Amino acid sequence: MSEKTPYYITTPIYYPSGNPHIGHCYSTLACDCVARMKRMQGYDVMFLTGTDEHGQKIEKKAAEEGVTPQEYVDGIVANFKKLWETLGISYDRFVRTTDDYHVKTVQNVFEKLYKDGWIYKSSYTGKYCTPCESFWTESQLVDGKCPDCGREVQDASEEAYFFKLSHFAPQLRELLLDEERGFLNPKSRVNEMVHNFIDPGLQDLCVSRTSFKWGIPVTFDDDHIVYVWLDALTNYVSALGFMNDTYNDYEKFWPADSHVMAKEIVRFHSLIWPAILMALGEPLPKKILGHGWITFGDGKMSKSKGNVVNPFVPCERYGADALRYDLLREMPFGSDAPYSNEMMFNRINSDLANDLGNLISRTVAMTIKYFGGTLPVDKDFRDSDEELLSMTDALPSFVEETFEGLRFSEGLDRIIRVVARANKYIDENEPWVLAKDEANKPRLAAVLYNLLDTVRRCAILLSPVMPHVCPEIFEQIGACECCTTWEAATKRHALKADVTVTKGRILFPRIDVEKEVEELEALSKPARELPEEPMKDITVFDNFASLDLRAVKVLSCERVPKSDKLLKFIVDDGFGERQVLSGIAKYYKPEEMIGKTLAMIINLAPRKMMGHESNGMILSVRDGDKFRVIEFDDSIKPGADIS
Ligand code: MSP
Repeated sequence: MSEKTPYYITTPIYYPSGNPHIGHCYSTLACDCVARMKRMQGYDVMFLTGTDEHGQKIEKKAAEEGVTPQEYVDGIVANFKKLWETLGISYDRFVRTTDDYHVKTVQNVFEKLYKDGWIYKSSYTGKYCTPCESFWTESQLVDGKCPDCGREVQDASEEAYFFKLSHFAPQLRELLLDEERGFLNPKSRVNEMVHNFIDPGLQDLCVSRTSFKWGIPVTFDDDHIVYVWLDALTNYVSALGFMNDTYNDYEKFWPADSHVMAKEIVRFHSLIWPAILMALGEPLPKKILGHGWITFGDGKMSKSKGNVVNPFVPCERYGADALRYDLLREMPFGSDAPYSNEMMFNRINSDLANDLGNLISRTVAMTIKYFGGTLPVDKDFRDSDEELLSMTDALPSFVEETFEGLRFSEGLDRIIRVVARANKYIDENEPWVLAKDEANKPRLAAVLYNLLDTVRRCAILLSPVMPHVCPEIFEQIGACECCTTWEAATKRHALKADVTVTKGRILFPRIDVEKEVEELEALSKPARELPEEPMKDITVFDNFASLDLRAVKVLSCERVPKSDKLLKFIVDDGFGERQVLSGIAKYYKPEEMIGKTLAMIINLAPRKMMGHESNGMILSVRDGDKFRVIEFDDSIKPGADIS
């Protein structure tokens, strides 16, 4: 038996700096769909995904939450994995840049590039965008801001190692402009790379950092960690065992057939990554595929913008396959696609419930009604069947080509057109009229058989997109395993001549759009009224414990001259007297404060207000647009601690 042909496809490795959203699902679904198709076609598939866990942003987030970076990412990576499971993502390997073998590979790659003279030490001054972890030159900035995300950049300078990216400019230019090779897709991005980045002059790339610690150390220079993009891009080979002993798949699967990603990181994959591989003397990936963004409201759906949709909700309510179908159907390759729940419901209703679902349920129901569920072998096929059959014949090659090029919307549109043509075929042939005359039974059987066989062929081609529902379709139409392979989609009438159908559940229930939109809105509303100010981030117990909170007794109180806000207090804090100011003059008269026992932080650093020193802070609670001091009764003695 001949060896299976290897096929290697990758998603970007995602930053676990926040939980995954519908935007992240697209690349992963696209790869999953291609991987599933390729497996059905008999390829030996390696489908890689993972997480990109180093960098300053993650270091900062972890510090804000009072946990280690590793603890921080572990929690989020678990959520990514849970989402992939919910969506039915059939990845073969999951790489984490904190995995030992990956660290080893990155260190080996860095060392080799240094020894071979492709990496050298110098110093760097530039504009740094922290969220993107990218240095920019002045000329690359757009309106003085980061060209990728539009945020502010900071001046930064550090001693650093550089990769001789500039050396590879001519080879990269040639690679990108080689039409026959078709390295970067869609083609429109080629011009962008060549004109915006190569032609103005490729700069050497800074590939180490000293300003933070959460990264892979440079083995021969302790102060430096490896630049996050050199670390991240290397995942595509570390996960195969390149320069590590954990895996042994490099020979078999490299070069990758497809690196899939959205447009904003095409630059890293079509310039930096090939240049690194050229320097290492390794083969280049076959294709870089840069799709558009899923947008929501007025821009890319992204964690940092906060406009994200939680993908678990649609999966739970309508099934993973509905979301899979919708996302892949809506985005034309290379363009952005807006996401809204309402659009998804309309898409599910029109394509899946009306067209596909109806075709299946009508055909199965008629087979049961007119033939007790099993078709007779004797059939009367006619020339008028040809249009439907030849339209279906043309599907597999078109679907294969479009799916492989991430043009899912075109492929799916063509499948649904065949489904619609099949529904029209029912109306043209009127099985309910044929059924009235026993003499028409062979014709009626042929009509139903053509329909069932069309459903079979469409469902095979839909399997990579809807892997959970398609097996149920096969069950309902009585298609055995041998006639549901990819190859079988190219064959007319592969369904058994005396096929038996089974009535099953409604596979694509219609969604009541108005009701569903209302319910989703209710779901996203908080159960209680939220306070005007948003809740502050989680803090740790130690922060609270560092405050010395005590009951204090007011000995005297007066207005601060020329201030309509401040009252000046002398309080007994149990240890002695202290002076404190409080901005509550609008709510209290000085004389009514005397004798009250209040709550106070007594160890705040002293500060001056209107020339008077304040040693602490009196605690109050907001009451509408007023503030009320927190008071205790007389049984509480000055100095009693509050915890
Ligand atoms: N860690 C880098 C990638 C390193 S790859 C060697 C990174 N991570 S990311 O978490 O920001 O993921 C970016 C990728 O997530 C995009 O390129 C795309 O594949 C996917 N998407 C995230 N938001 C998206 C949309 N709103 N729409 C479509 N895809 C999006 O960049």
